[in-house]
Amino acid sequence: MKTTSSMPHVFRALDLLLGLAEPDPDSPQDYCIADTKLSFYLNGVPCINPNLATTAHFTTSALAKAGNTRANPIGFNVTLTTVANLPGINTLGLFLARVDIAANGIVPPHSNPRASEVTICLKGSILVGFVDTSNRLYSQQLRAGESFVFPKGLILFLSQNPGAQIASIAAFTSNPHIPDDVVKKAFQITTQEVVKIRKNLGG
Ligand SMILES: *[C@@H]1O[C@H](CO)[C@@H](O)[C@H](O)[C@H]1NC(C)=O
Repeated sequence: MKTTSSMPHVFRALDLLLGLAEPDPDSPQDYCIADTKLSFYLNGVPCINPNLATTAHFTTSALAKAGNTRANPIGFNVTLTTVANLPGINTLGLFLARVDIAANGIVPPHSNPRASEVTICLKGSILVGFVDTSNRLYSQQLRAGESFVFPKGLILFLSQNPGAQIASIAAFTSNPHIPDDVVKKAFQITTQEVVKIRKNLGG
């Protein structure tokens, strides 16, 4: 009798412990500077009345057209879905991108700090890869119809010619620039080489 009556308490305690053991939810933003004057802040885009939702809110042709890969020297063009061209994607925690890559073009090394990524090769073939936190490279040549997943936050690239690229746009042409000493050390290059690469990349 005593055991039976204490069971709910055991479950409650377990529940509480499991609850306490949960990690913090992922932050949807990089930082949150307190606005001490506003009494109301909305993170993201507000919702329309659900009664007004239509199929059109969940469909888009934004990715139907190829981007122009000749508009920049890196040879890639990213077309994105947004809440403007696909309102139904708001708060779903995902978005879609079409990446057009010229022959010998690349998507420079970068990381996506708040999302994992799936790449599906629709046409042609492409070398993709990422580096894990122990500096190990995982890469694969994808052919049409093949897919690859990139874990959240790790440095990744998509390339048709990875050996020809010396460094990423971000490292050399950020605004303001990453200090020369940092870039020189990271890439083991001279000041002249930093200047030359910046110039080549238009930075
Ligand atoms: C991507 O392609 C679009 C459409 O052709 C073009 O307007 C845009 O300038 C291109 N963006 C880049 C960064 O090359």
